[in-house]
Amino acid sequence: MSTLTRFGISMDSQLLRRFDAFIREHAYANRSEAVRDLVRDRLVQKSWDQGNEEMVGTITLVFDHHQRDLTEKLTAQQHDHHETVLSAMHVHLDHFNCLEVLAVRGKARDIQSIADRLISVKGVKHGKLVMTATGEGL
Ligand code: NI
Repeated sequence: MSTLTRFGISMDSQLLRRFDAFIREHAYANRSEAVRDLVRDRLVQKSWDQGNEEMVGTITLVFDHHQRDLTEKLTAQQHDHHETVLSAMHVHLDHFNCLEVLAVRGKARDIQSIADRLISVKGVKHGKLVMTATGEGL
């Protein structure tokens, strides 16, 4: 970790009241930690938007495993991108529904494309890509 630098922030008092309410709502210990998280979140988002940076994330899928060939299709796509899909966790939610969480690492645009292809497969009831970073530089 690099050295800590203190700096002041001027803010409209009404905006600050709303920010303090946000801090309480999200259980932050203090303003500094909340500001750090907001800055990191914006920087991570910027890296994703640039497309060619090495990023990590998770793809969450909920699907009906009785849907014809669906499980095979999803698994085949994961094998096609084995260099990006690091790990898969499968949970049998009930008699019909499965939850799959994939850990992914690669260029942002490749991850987004794989997520789009998996989430759009017929029979996937809900899917979401959570975009985060390797932690380097944050
Ligand atoms: Ni299952």
